[in-house]
Amino acid sequence: MDFFLAFSSLSAAVLAGLLLLATCTWAVLIRSSSSSRYPPVAGTVFHQALNYRRLHDYHTQLSRKHKTFRLLSPLCHHIYTVDPTVVEHILKGNFENYGKGWYNYSNLKDLFGDGIFAVDGDKWRHQRKLASFGFSTKAIKDFSGAVFRSNAAKLAHLIASYANSNEKFEIQGLFMKSTMDSIFRTAFGVELNCLGASDHAGSEFAKAFDASGEIITLRYINVFWKIMRFLNIGSEATLKKKIKVVDDFVYKLIHLRIQQISSTSNDSAKNEDILSKFLEESKKDPQNMSLKYLRDIILNLVLAGKDSTASTLSWFFYLICKNPSVQEKIYREVMEVIEASEDAAFDAFSRNINDESLNNMHYLHAALSETLRLYPVAPIDNKVCFSDDILPGGYNVRKGDIVFYQAYAMGRMEFLWGEDAEIFRPERWLDDDGIFQPQNPYKFSAFQAGPRICVGKEVAYRQMKTFAAVLLRFFKFKLSDEKKVVHYKTSTTLLVDEGLYLEALHR
Ligand code: HEM
Repeated sequence: MDFFLAFSSLSAAVLAGLLLLATCTWAVLIRSSSSSRYPPVAGTVFHQALNYRRLHDYHTQLSRKHKTFRLLSPLCHHIYTVDPTVVEHILKGNFENYGKGWYNYSNLKDLFGDGIFAVDGDKWRHQRKLASFGFSTKAIKDFSGAVFRSNAAKLAHLIASYANSNEKFEIQGLFMKSTMDSIFRTAFGVELNCLGASDHAGSEFAKAFDASGEIITLRYINVFWKIMRFLNIGSEATLKKKIKVVDDFVYKLIHLRIQQISSTSNDSAKNEDILSKFLEESKKDPQNMSLKYLRDIILNLVLAGKDSTASTLSWFFYLICKNPSVQEKIYREVMEVIEASEDAAFDAFSRNINDESLNNMHYLHAALSETLRLYPVAPIDNKVCFSDDILPGGYNVRKGDIVFYQAYAMGRMEFLWGEDAEIFRPERWLDDDGIFQPQNPYKFSAFQAGPRICVGKEVAYRQMKTFAAVLLRFFKFKLSDEKKVVHYKTSTTLLVDEGLYLEALHR
């Protein structure tokens, strides 16, 4: 609903925007006409709104003509690239000169606050250190592993009931609920139980949180969102209400956890979730780590960890249903690697999964990476240029220009992946002995790369592998409607449109 509201305002905005563009293009061209060499112009930013439902394929089409190109925009150059040398330059080589900038910060700050996703500089460095440290502690690793195993088994129980009654079910919604439960338990130490739907406040929070994320994403193409926010109309008015629900819930949890920690004498229970770790830090640095800052830090982790994992798992299940031989190979690998008795049920089997068995599942790791190559969670990402620069290959970039690197389009480029670039083929990630071989992260940029590479990459693989191993050990999956075309929900969020309906058979 919010999406359609925002989209109709968007159509009107496109017309007004085209007018604005015509006036500003002249100024841009005048500024560009020096000896500088800019990437070729492939269209205008407003063509994106016209191609909204197929935005990533539109970008891919343009990228097949030019590895690096420009879309004209009223105020600055919007540069798009699929060239790994350019990606490496902005993400690592000249890291200090490219960042989120004001463009991203102003789009994101109402929901993300000063969290890691929205900021640069010292604030980013501080949170990066906290997050990297948090995820590497043994207590949090062990705790999150146990949470993933238990939630995978819970999901298996639910799917068994559908299999028993030969009912189809919508798996993406189940993954969304389950990953929300996992991230809440690991981040806040709280059992939300979205999958069991026993917590009303938790489900309301989850809905408000999802809706806010979607509206925030729309700001990237609705150039008039600031006016809508000022007038408190349409999607921006909805956003304000949703963020209030999110904030009320999160602050309540933080207060609850502070109380719990002060009243327990059990030291390990104080340290196993990420919030407890950060609360400990906030005691050392109360000036900088206010409640609002804690809210921002934790909420960014929830935002980072939930949809990304659930939508990758959804695309993964879609792809293995389309490719039953891959599904069978994963099943055989799971049976070989995880030591459990033949008759172990869901809970007993999942308890036998450990870091060693997860590391030994090379084919599953390859199939998940192949999923992300073709359906990356961030199909397109951007960095703002802080001072004039020259890209590898010689194109100029000016201060304030935005450089977009495109993981989705890159996954489809023959010059990067060969003639079968568009085919789902996990084997491309394995050597002759079947051992997983990582790719150059500037060519496979689904987790970003360089100093800002995804902090949760390892956690994400551990969770996805645990879920996939438990579910594929016990069930054979197929699409409930083979002919249905599955695509992105909106141009910018990687969710399967209208859900992904599957049928499961017991093995
Ligand atoms: C399949 C799963 C995942 C994928 C594909 C993924 C991908 C990404 C991408 C593309 C970024 C860069 C975003 C940007 O700054 O524009 C990112 C950043 C980040 N991710 Fe993930 N992510 C996944 C799971 C997770 C999980 C489970 C967590 C933690 C709970 C996590 C935590 C983070 C954090 C904290 C950042 C910010 C890093 C920084 O700016 O320094 N991610 N991730």
